[in-house]
Amino acid sequence: MATNADVRIRLLGPDDADALIRLAATDNLFDEDPSVEPSGTLTYDAARSFLGDPSVLFWLAESGGETVGFLHCCIQRRRIPGPWAELLLLEMGTHVDWRHRGIGRSLLAVMEEWMRAQEITEVWVPANVYATGFYEKCGFAQDEGEILVKALG
Ligand SMILES: CC(C)(COP(=O)(O)OP(=O)(O)OC[C@H]1O[C@@H](n2cnc3c(N)ncnc32)[C@H](O)[C@@H]1OP(=O)(O)O)[C@@H](O)C(=O)NCCC(=O)NCCS
Repeated sequence: MATNADVRIRLLGPDDADALIRLAATDNLFDEDPSVEPSGTLTYDAARSFLGDPSVLFWLAESGGETVGFLHCCIQRRRIPGPWAELLLLEMGTHVDWRHRGIGRSLLAVMEEWMRAQEITEVWVPANVYATGFYEKCGFAQDEGEILVKALG
């Protein structure tokens, strides 16, 4: 799906491992703070396995062969009656040189188009403070409760 004249968004599959490997090498440029270290070297097998996981949704936005944005969701099955699943939006980023040009909004629009086709009606995001205003502009609302995390030592 196109966002504008020169940005295109596509859903990656296992045969797109190279694109994921390239992104991991420079994904700091998609972070709130681009001066952090990138994720680093990803093996071909790891990238292929990740993109082949049926619970993984990974969209890439590209312009002229350059990656300008990405959106990563997890398909979460629901236990209770109603839609069969919901989405957990785990991470997204627009290249630091491409922000405020509608790429983030377009990535969410593509995700929502996919949700409608799958009859999924809800998406959750554990948002960082920096991005909260962006998500609100795109129709997300604050929910009650806190997100907690535990890192095993
Ligand atoms: C948050 C992020 C993905 C937004 O991407 P983007 O491509 O710049 O967003 P868009 O250009 O589509 O912006 C859509 C709207 O949100 C607004 N917006 C964008 N970033 C914003 C921010 N950080 N805070 C408040 N509003 C923001 C835009 O002004 C625009 O509003 P408009 O439609 O009224 O003009 C991008 O800033 C980013 O990659 N941040 C670093 C990584 C990050 O924080 N990811 C989220 C992790 S939870």
